[in-house]
Amino acid sequence: MSKVILVTGGAGHVGSHIIEQLVSDPDNRVISLDNYFNGSTNNHISGAEYRHGHTKDIDKLIPETPNIVFHLGEYARITPSFDDINKVFDMNIIGTFNVVEFCRQRKVKKLVYAASSTKFAIEGDGRHQTPYAFTKATNVDLINDYGRWYNLPYAICYFYNAFGPREKGDQIYGTLIAKFEQAYIKGEPLTIVNPGTQKRNFTHVSDLARGIILAGENGSGDGYALGNKKAYSVEEIAQAFGGQVKYVDGYSGRSESGEMPDKARQELKWDTTIDILDYIKDFVSAHPRG
Ligand SMILES: NC(=O)c1ccc[n+]([C@@H]2O[C@H](COP(=O)([O-])OP(=O)(O)OC[C@H]3O[C@@H](n4cnc5c(N)ncnc54)[C@H](O)[C@@H]3O)[C@@H](O)[C@H]2O)c1
Repeated sequence: MSKVILVTGGAGHVGSHIIEQLVSDPDNRVISLDNYFNGSTNNHISGAEYRHGHTKDIDKLIPETPNIVFHLGEYARITPSFDDINKVFDMNIIGTFNVVEFCRQRKVKKLVYAASSTKFAIEGDGRHQTPYAFTKATNVDLINDYGRWYNLPYAICYFYNAFGPREKGDQIYGTLIAKFEQAYIKGEPLTIVNPGTQKRNFTHVSDLARGIILAGENGSGDGYALGNKKAYSVEEIAQAFGGQVKYVDGYSGRSESGEMPDKARQELKWDTTIDILDYIKDFVSAHPRG
Protein backbone atom coordinates (compact mmCIF):
# COMPACT_ATOMS: atom_id res chain seq x y z
CA MET A 1 0.00 0.00 0.00
CA SER A 2 1.32 3.44 -0.83
CA LYS A 3 2.11 6.02 1.81
CA VAL A 4 0.00 9.19 1.58
CA ILE A 5 2.10 12.28 2.27
CA LEU A 6 0.67 15.79 2.50
CA VAL A 7 2.93 18.79 1.92
CA THR A 8 1.30 22.13 2.71
CA GLY A 9 2.94 24.94 0.75
CA GLY A 10 4.02 22.40 -1.87
CA ALA A 11 3.98 25.02 -4.66
CA GLY A 12 6.46 27.20 -2.77
CA HIS A 13 10.24 27.25 -2.80
CA VAL A 14 11.24 24.68 -0.17
CA GLY A 15 8.00 22.68 -0.48
CA SER A 16 8.62 22.00 -4.17
CA HIS A 17 12.02 20.49 -3.36
CA ILE A 18 10.53 18.27 -0.65
CA ILE A 19 7.98 17.04 -3.19
CA GLU A 20 10.68 16.47 -5.78
CA GLN A 21 12.58 14.22 -3.37
CA LEU A 22 9.44 12.43 -2.12
CA VAL A 23 8.00 11.55 -5.56
CA SER A 24 11.23 9.80 -6.49
CA ASP A 25 9.97 6.94 -4.27
CA PRO A 26 7.14 5.22 -6.20
CA ASP A 27 5.59 4.05 -2.91
CA ASN A 28 4.78 7.64 -1.97
CA ARG A 29 1.51 9.31 -3.00
CA VAL A 30 2.29 13.01 -2.55
CA ILE A 31 -0.44 15.67 -2.23
CA SER A 32 0.21 19.41 -1.99
CA LEU A 33 -2.17 21.94 -0.44
CA ASP A 34 -1.29 25.52 -1.39
CA ASN A 35 -3.27 28.76 -1.62
CA TYR A 36 -0.83 30.21 -4.22
CA PHE A 37 -0.32 33.37 -2.20
CA ASN A 38 3.39 33.02 -2.90
CA GLY A 39 3.48 29.67 -4.66
CA SER A 40 3.43 29.05 -8.39
CA THR A 41 2.30 26.37 -10.79
CA ASN A 42 5.83 26.73 -12.26
CA ASN A 43 7.01 24.88 -9.14
CA HIS A 44 4.75 21.88 -9.77
CA ILE A 45 6.55 18.55 -9.87
CA SER A 46 5.26 15.82 -12.10
CA GLY A 47 3.91 12.88 -10.12
CA ALA A 48 2.40 14.95 -7.28
CA GLU A 49 -1.26 15.99 -6.85
CA TYR A 50 -2.04 19.65 -6.31
CA ARG A 51 -5.00 21.04 -4.35
CA HIS A 52 -5.69 24.76 -4.34
CA GLY A 53 -6.80 26.23 -1.01
CA HIS A 54 -6.07 27.72 2.40
CA THR A 55 -4.94 25.48 5.26
CA LYS A 56 -7.92 26.68 7.30
CA ASP A 57 -10.04 24.53 4.94
CA ILE A 58 -7.75 21.49 5.19
CA ASP A 59 -10.44 19.22 6.59
CA LYS A 60 -12.64 19.76 3.52
CA LEU A 61 -9.84 19.85 0.93
CA ILE A 62 -8.02 16.73 2.13
CA PRO A 63 -10.48 13.87 2.53
CA GLU A 64 -7.56 11.41 2.60
CA THR A 65 -5.86 10.60 5.88
CA PRO A 66 -2.16 11.21 5.29
CA ASN A 67 0.44 9.11 7.08
CA ILE A 68 2.58 12.19 7.46
CA VAL A 69 2.08 15.94 7.05
CA PHE A 70 4.95 18.30 6.19
CA HIS A 71 3.59 21.72 7.14
CA LEU A 72 5.23 24.55 5.22
CA GLY A 73 2.14 26.42 3.95
CA GLU A 74 2.46 29.69 5.81
CA TYR A 75 3.21 33.34 5.12
CA ALA A 76 6.99 33.04 4.90
CA ARG A 77 8.69 36.43 4.60
CA ILE A 78 10.15 38.55 7.40
CA THR A 79 10.33 42.22 6.35
CA PRO A 80 6.93 42.58 4.60
CA SER A 81 5.19 40.89 7.55
CA PHE A 82 4.93 44.28 9.31
CA ASP A 83 2.67 45.59 6.52
CA ASP A 84 0.86 42.28 6.04
CA ILE A 85 0.02 41.47 9.65
CA ASN A 86 -3.60 40.52 8.87
CA LYS A 87 -2.48 38.04 6.22
CA VAL A 88 0.23 36.68 8.53
CA PHE A 89 -2.25 35.92 11.31
CA ASP A 90 -4.82 34.49 8.91
CA MET A 91 -2.38 32.18 7.12
CA ASN A 92 -0.12 31.27 10.03
CA ILE A 93 -2.22 31.35 13.21
CA ILE A 94 -5.68 30.37 11.94
CA GLY A 95 -4.30 28.17 9.15
CA THR A 96 -1.84 26.32 11.34
CA PHE A 97 -4.32 25.76 14.15
CA ASN A 98 -6.48 23.93 11.60
CA VAL A 99 -3.54 21.86 10.34
CA VAL A 100 -2.59 20.80 13.86
CA GLU A 101 -6.20 20.00 14.73
CA PHE A 102 -6.55 18.01 11.45
CA CYS A 103 -3.51 15.93 12.46
CA ARG A 104 -5.02 15.24 15.88
CA GLN A 105 -8.49 14.35 14.55
CA ARG A 106 -7.17 12.13 11.74
CA LYS A 107 -4.51 10.52 13.94
CA VAL A 108 -1.77 11.45 11.48
CA LYS A 109 1.38 9.50 12.36
CA LYS A 110 3.63 12.57 12.28
CA LEU A 111 3.33 16.30 11.81
CA VAL A 112 6.60 17.83 10.66
CA TYR A 113 6.77 21.61 10.97
CA ALA A 114 9.04 24.05 9.12
CA ALA A 115 9.83 26.51 11.90
CA SER A 116 12.05 29.54 11.66
CA SER A 117 15.54 30.06 13.04
CA THR A 118 14.55 33.70 13.72
CA LYS A 119 13.43 32.44 17.13
CA PHE A 120 17.01 31.77 18.29
CA ALA A 121 18.38 35.26 17.55
CA ILE A 122 19.04 37.90 20.20
CA GLU A 123 19.19 35.32 23.00
CA GLY A 124 15.71 34.04 22.22
CA ASP A 125 14.13 37.47 21.81
CA GLY A 126 14.10 36.93 18.03
CA ARG A 127 10.54 35.65 18.29
CA HIS A 128 9.35 39.15 19.23
CA GLN A 129 11.14 41.05 16.48
CA THR A 130 8.57 40.72 13.67
CA PRO A 131 4.98 39.55 13.16
CA TYR A 132 6.38 36.68 11.07
CA ALA A 133 8.81 35.48 13.77
CA PHE A 134 6.08 35.81 16.40
CA THR A 135 3.68 33.53 14.52
CA LYS A 136 6.37 30.96 13.71
CA ALA A 137 7.53 30.70 17.34
CA THR A 138 3.92 30.66 18.57
CA ASN A 139 3.20 27.72 16.28
CA VAL A 140 6.20 25.89 17.71
CA ASP A 141 4.66 26.38 21.16
CA LEU A 142 1.28 25.18 19.88
CA ILE A 143 2.70 21.99 18.33
CA ASN A 144 4.81 21.20 21.41
CA ASP A 145 1.71 21.63 23.56
CA TYR A 146 -0.40 19.43 21.29
CA GLY A 147 2.27 16.80 21.87
CA ARG A 148 1.87 17.30 25.60
CA TRP A 149 -1.95 17.57 25.68
CA TYR A 150 -2.92 14.99 23.04
CA ASN A 151 0.24 12.93 22.41
CA LEU A 152 0.38 14.31 18.88
CA PRO A 153 3.48 12.80 17.22
CA TYR A 154 5.58 15.59 15.72
CA ALA A 155 9.00 16.82 14.71
CA ILE A 156 9.97 20.48 14.48
CA CYS A 157 12.68 21.61 12.05
CA TYR A 158 14.21 25.08 11.90
CA PHE A 159 15.21 26.35 8.49
CA TYR A 160 18.03 28.83 7.99
CA ASN A 161 17.93 31.10 4.90
CA ALA A 162 17.10 28.87 1.96
CA PHE A 163 18.75 29.46 -1.41
CA GLY A 164 18.78 27.52 -4.65
CA PRO A 165 16.69 26.64 -7.70
CA ARG A 166 13.14 28.08 -7.90
CA GLU A 167 13.96 30.85 -5.38
CA LYS A 168 11.98 34.02 -6.15
CA GLY A 169 13.77 37.33 -6.67
CA ASP A 170 10.84 39.76 -6.80
CA GLN A 171 11.04 42.92 -4.71
CA ILE A 172 8.46 42.26 -1.97
CA TYR A 173 8.44 38.49 -1.39
CA GLY A 174 11.75 37.61 -3.01
CA THR A 175 14.77 36.46 -1.00
CA LEU A 176 18.33 37.72 -0.99
CA ILE A 177 20.27 35.34 -3.21
CA ALA A 178 17.68 35.40 -6.02
CA LYS A 179 17.47 39.21 -5.78
CA PHE A 180 21.27 39.43 -6.08
CA GLU A 181 21.23 37.01 -9.03
CA GLN A 182 18.64 39.10 -10.86
CA ALA A 183 20.46 42.38 -10.25
CA TYR A 184 23.74 40.74 -11.32
CA ILE A 185 22.22 39.52 -14.60
CA LYS A 186 20.75 42.96 -15.31
CA GLY A 187 24.11 44.60 -14.56
CA GLU A 188 22.56 46.63 -11.71
CA PRO A 189 24.21 47.29 -8.33
CA LEU A 190 23.37 44.75 -5.60
CA THR A 191 21.28 46.39 -2.87
CA ILE A 192 22.50 45.87 0.69
CA VAL A 193 20.37 46.93 3.65
CA ASN A 194 22.55 48.80 6.15
CA PRO A 195 24.79 47.93 7.91
CA GLY A 196 25.58 44.91 5.67
CA THR A 197 27.45 43.11 8.45
CA GLN A 198 24.32 41.12 9.39
CA LYS A 199 25.16 37.43 9.05
CA ARG A 200 23.05 34.56 7.76
CA ASN A 201 23.55 30.78 7.63
CA PHE A 202 22.55 30.32 3.97
CA THR A 203 21.43 26.73 3.40
CA HIS A 204 20.82 25.03 0.07
CA VAL A 205 17.17 24.17 -0.50
CA SER A 206 17.94 20.54 -1.40
CA ASP A 207 19.78 20.12 1.93
CA LEU A 208 16.76 21.57 3.76
CA ALA A 209 14.41 19.23 1.92
CA ARG A 210 16.57 16.20 2.70
CA GLY A 211 16.75 17.22 6.37
CA ILE A 212 13.02 17.67 6.87
CA ILE A 213 12.32 14.33 5.16
CA LEU A 214 14.81 12.66 7.52
CA ALA A 215 13.02 14.32 10.45
CA GLY A 216 9.77 12.91 9.07
CA GLU A 217 11.28 9.42 9.02
CA ASN A 218 13.28 9.38 12.24
CA GLY A 219 12.73 12.61 14.18
CA SER A 220 10.69 13.19 17.29
CA GLY A 221 10.01 16.40 19.19
CA ASP A 222 11.52 19.86 18.93
CA GLY A 223 14.95 21.15 17.94
CA TYR A 224 16.00 19.94 14.48
CA ALA A 225 17.99 22.94 13.26
CA LEU A 226 18.76 22.67 9.54
CA GLY A 227 21.37 25.29 8.85
CA ASN A 228 24.83 25.67 7.39
CA LYS A 229 27.28 25.97 10.29
CA LYS A 230 29.12 28.71 8.45
CA ALA A 231 27.52 32.15 8.44
CA TYR A 232 28.34 34.90 5.94
CA SER A 233 27.53 38.59 6.10
CA VAL A 234 25.36 40.11 3.39
CA GLU A 235 28.41 42.15 2.33
CA GLU A 236 30.51 39.01 1.92
CA ILE A 237 27.79 37.49 -0.23
CA ALA A 238 27.62 40.60 -2.44
CA GLN A 239 31.43 40.57 -2.78
CA ALA A 240 31.27 36.94 -3.95
CA PHE A 241 29.10 38.10 -6.89
CA GLY A 242 31.46 41.01 -7.57
CA GLY A 243 30.51 44.34 -9.11
CA GLN A 244 28.80 47.38 -7.71
CA VAL A 245 26.77 47.54 -4.52
CA LYS A 246 24.49 50.18 -3.06
CA TYR A 247 23.53 50.58 0.59
CA VAL A 248 19.98 51.47 1.64
CA ASP A 249 18.24 51.94 4.97
CA GLY A 250 15.62 49.39 5.91
CA TYR A 251 14.86 46.50 8.22
CA SER A 252 18.10 44.54 8.43
CA GLY A 253 16.89 41.96 10.94
CA ARG A 254 19.04 40.12 13.43
CA SER A 255 22.82 40.67 13.36
CA GLU A 256 23.35 36.91 13.50
CA SER A 257 21.31 33.74 13.87
CA GLY A 258 22.10 32.89 17.49
CA GLU A 259 22.54 29.38 18.84
CA MET A 260 22.03 26.45 16.47
CA PRO A 261 20.79 23.29 18.21
CA ASP A 262 22.82 20.21 17.21
CA LYS A 263 20.04 17.64 17.24
CA ALA A 264 19.69 17.22 13.45
CA ARG A 265 23.41 16.52 13.06
CA GLN A 266 23.56 14.25 16.10
CA GLU A 267 20.33 12.26 15.72
CA LEU A 268 19.59 12.36 12.01
CA LYS A 269 23.23 12.42 10.85
CA TRP A 270 22.20 15.31 8.62
CA ASP A 271 24.61 17.92 7.31
CA THR A 272 24.83 20.43 4.52
CA THR A 273 26.47 19.43 1.24
CA ILE A 274 26.56 22.73 -0.69
CA ASP A 275 28.13 25.99 0.46
CA ILE A 276 26.72 29.29 -0.74
CA LEU A 277 30.08 30.65 -1.91
CA ASP A 278 30.60 27.63 -4.21
CA TYR A 279 27.05 28.08 -5.50
CA ILE A 280 27.71 31.76 -6.29
CA LYS A 281 31.02 30.89 -7.97
CA ASP A 282 29.18 28.47 -10.28
CA PHE A 283 26.44 31.05 -10.93
CA VAL A 284 28.96 33.75 -11.86
CA SER A 285 30.89 31.46 -14.23
CA ALA A 286 27.62 30.39 -15.88
CA HIS A 287 26.56 34.05 -16.34
CA PRO A 288 29.64 35.99 -17.48
CA ARG A 289 29.06 39.73 -17.53
CA GLY A 290 29.50 41.43 -20.90
N1 LIG B 1 12.95 30.12 3.11
C1 LIG B 1 13.53 30.18 4.30
O1 LIG B 1 14.70 30.57 4.42
C2 LIG B 1 12.79 29.75 5.54
C3 LIG B 1 13.41 29.92 6.78
C4 LIG B 1 12.72 29.51 7.92
C5 LIG B 1 11.46 28.95 7.81
N2 LIG B 1 10.88 28.82 6.59
C6 LIG B 1 9.55 28.26 6.51
O2 LIG B 1 9.51 27.26 5.51
C7 LIG B 1 8.25 27.28 4.85
C8 LIG B 1 8.46 27.40 3.35
O3 LIG B 1 9.17 28.60 3.07
P1 LIG B 1 9.48 29.04 1.58
O4 LIG B 1 10.67 29.90 1.62
O5 LIG B 1 9.45 27.88 0.68
O6 LIG B 1 8.24 30.00 1.31
P2 LIG B 1 7.24 30.08 0.07
O7 LIG B 1 6.45 31.31 0.27
O8 LIG B 1 7.99 29.89 -1.19
O9 LIG B 1 6.33 28.80 0.33
C9 LIG B 1 5.22 28.83 1.18
C10 LIG B 1 4.05 28.32 0.38
O10 LIG B 1 2.91 28.22 1.23
C11 LIG B 1 1.78 28.78 0.58
N3 LIG B 1 0.90 29.23 1.66
C12 LIG B 1 1.10 30.25 2.51
N4 LIG B 1 0.11 30.30 3.42
C13 LIG B 1 -0.74 29.30 3.12
C14 LIG B 1 -1.96 28.84 3.69
N5 LIG B 1 -2.47 29.40 4.80
N6 LIG B 1 -2.58 27.79 3.11
C15 LIG B 1 -2.05 27.18 2.02
N7 LIG B 1 -0.89 27.56 1.46
C16 LIG B 1 -0.24 28.61 2.00
C17 LIG B 1 2.33 29.86 -0.33
O11 LIG B 1 1.52 30.13 -1.43
C18 LIG B 1 3.67 29.26 -0.76
O12 LIG B 1 3.53 28.49 -1.93
C19 LIG B 1 7.45 28.43 5.46
O13 LIG B 1 6.61 27.91 6.47
C20 LIG B 1 8.53 29.29 6.07
O14 LIG B 1 8.06 30.07 7.16
C21 LIG B 1 11.51 29.22 5.44
